[in-house]
Amino acid sequence: MNREILVGDVLEKIKEIPDKSIDCVITSPPYWTMRDYSVKGQWGLESDYHQYLAKLGRLMDQLRRVLKDTGTCWINLGDTYNDKSRIGIPERFYINCIDNGWIARNNIVWAKNNAMPCSVKDRFGNKFESIFFFVKQQKYYFNLDAVREKPITPTKAFNVRVRDTDKARFLQNATISEVKTHNKKGEFMGKASKEYLLKWQKNEDSIHKTNPYHPKGKNPGDTWLINTTPYKEAHFATFPEQLPTMILKCGCMPGGIVLDPFFGSGTVGVSAEKLGLRWVGIELNNDYVKLAKKRLEKYKIQTHLHFHSANSDNNNKNLINNLINNEGN
Ligand SMILES: C[S@@+](CC[C@H](N)C(=O)[O-])C[C@H]1O[C@@H](n2cnc3c(N)ncnc32)[C@H](O)[C@@H]1O
Repeated sequence: MNREILVGDVLEKIKEIPDKSIDCVITSPPYWTMRDYSVKGQWGLESDYHQYLAKLGRLMDQLRRVLKDTGTCWINLGDTYNDKSRIGIPERFYINCIDNGWIARNNIVWAKNNAMPCSVKDRFGNKFESIFFFVKQQKYYFNLDAVREKPITPTKAFNVRVRDTDKARFLQNATISEVKTHNKKGEFMGKASKEYLLKWQKNEDSIHKTNPYHPKGKNPGDTWLINTTPYKEAHFATFPEQLPTMILKCGCMPGGIVLDPFFGSGTVGVSAEKLGLRWVGIELNNDYVKLAKKRLEKYKIQTHLHFHSANSDNNNKNLINNLINNEGN
């Protein structure tokens, strides 16, 4: 299964996807009462938001079924106002997911500088949406190095305080040699500087377990400023390509397969193609399916990649070996 759009209702069509076959899920479900996608059976127009949340819950159960144990799941959700009050749909959804066993890794703030102008005068305009990052188990594929950012200030290898007693180390994981090369104030004393610098540059030093200034760049953090860039032929909110691209780079293993169960114009497919990844989409509206197919046609190069379930994947051992064993929380 690759480059396939399953046409129909998401809960029906997802049944066709085998257990533990997907490496990464990226999607933006229709928000509650925000838009009419002009198709019977569409989600988001339920009279009660509890019904909407219940459907999302059923979908999350299915996503957990199709996701490999090492996979990652990213859900973009926005909120709605009702009788003057912000409902808190993303928060309710997020808590439900945690209560149902998902491991929540981040609530990413997707901030937009070019958000729609807002005419409201008694509150602030909404300029962000949430992207919830979930996993199934504690060990999962995540390649932070692929998305590290250049620090604004250049890193200085010795600009790190290391206390001089074993017990009271500023850096919990400082080695004896690191401690020895620093004075009581934690300033570097200049001894063995070349050796230390080389270790630091090669990222061999235990200092990196706590040092935010990593030689490969800094962690981008959980606030992403990505402006919307609507796909001109779609009359609904599409992902800016940069968003799934960022997620796929860190959250989908090379050669892996990404599922977007609300495929729309197929932006997730476009990002996947550009990164040499496989994709599957589900979409209810036939007009959007046509649009996505047209958009993705040019990427149909003849690579016959096969769709492996996690159980039959010969590379599974390698995959496990490549997992990033995240330290701490
Ligand atoms: C927010 S849009 C997704 C846009 C997409 N991220 C993109 O970049 O184009 C939500 C999509 O969900 C689809 N949809 C709504 N109800 C659905 C259902 N029950 N099953 C499958 N797709 C559905 C809509 O037709 C719409 O294309």
